[in-house]
Amino acid sequence: MAHRIGVLLSGRGSNFEALAESISAGRIPGAEIVLVLSNREGAPGIERAHARDIEARVIPSKGLEREAYDRLVVAALREKGVELVCLAGYMRMISSYFVEQFRGRILNIHPSLLPAFPGLEAQRQALDHGVKFSGCTVHFVDEQLDAGPILLQAVVPVQDGDTPETLAARILVEEHRIYTEAVRIVLEGRFRLQGRRVLLTPSPANPRGRGN
Ligand code: GRF
Repeated sequence: MAHRIGVLLSGRGSNFEALAESISAGRIPGAEIVLVLSNREGAPGIERAHARDIEARVIPSKGLEREAYDRLVVAALREKGVELVCLAGYMRMISSYFVEQFRGRILNIHPSLLPAFPGLEAQRQALDHGVKFSGCTVHFVDEQLDAGPILLQAVVPVQDGDTPETLAARILVEEHRIYTEAVRIVLEGRFRLQGRRVLLTPSPANPRGRGN
């Protein structure tokens, strides 16, 4: 049976699209995105899912307590038999209830080299701080914001003329690349946790352990 992925998003959905494209192109063998969920009506990511014939639902979060909302989300993911949850521009903190239900099976992508610049507007934070390199991080999700064990990172140079938008665009290219790689590693079980460290382990097809 295919590895069933659920994607949670709130906006544009380019990371979702990159994952969907990677799956279609055979870069994440045996995976299928079975559900895209948005907490926001009109999120462009929902349209992108429809265009790919992937089931997409909006569960509006307005007015609901965090855990009450997450119970609806978890129920929808379970109903579709989701095994791995990918947060892709999902603009909500998730509750400990949600984390507990999918412990070790929730990934997030963040547009900075964590633990630097967690939270909103990470690219602007990087520019304001004056770093010369930023990048992106795929990490496991735990109860804290942008804080779980780090699976993969990619480094992106900051240029003198950068605005938050130009830096974000340069980082986004790397986001799309490493999210695919991270999902593949997780689905193939090619890692082990040692405290906070995620150590990549060899696969039979790739005995040296790194890369695709
Ligand atoms: C990305 O920069 C991602 O790292 C962050 O939110 C943005 C979502 O972009 N968490 P998209 O909706 O995937 O295009």
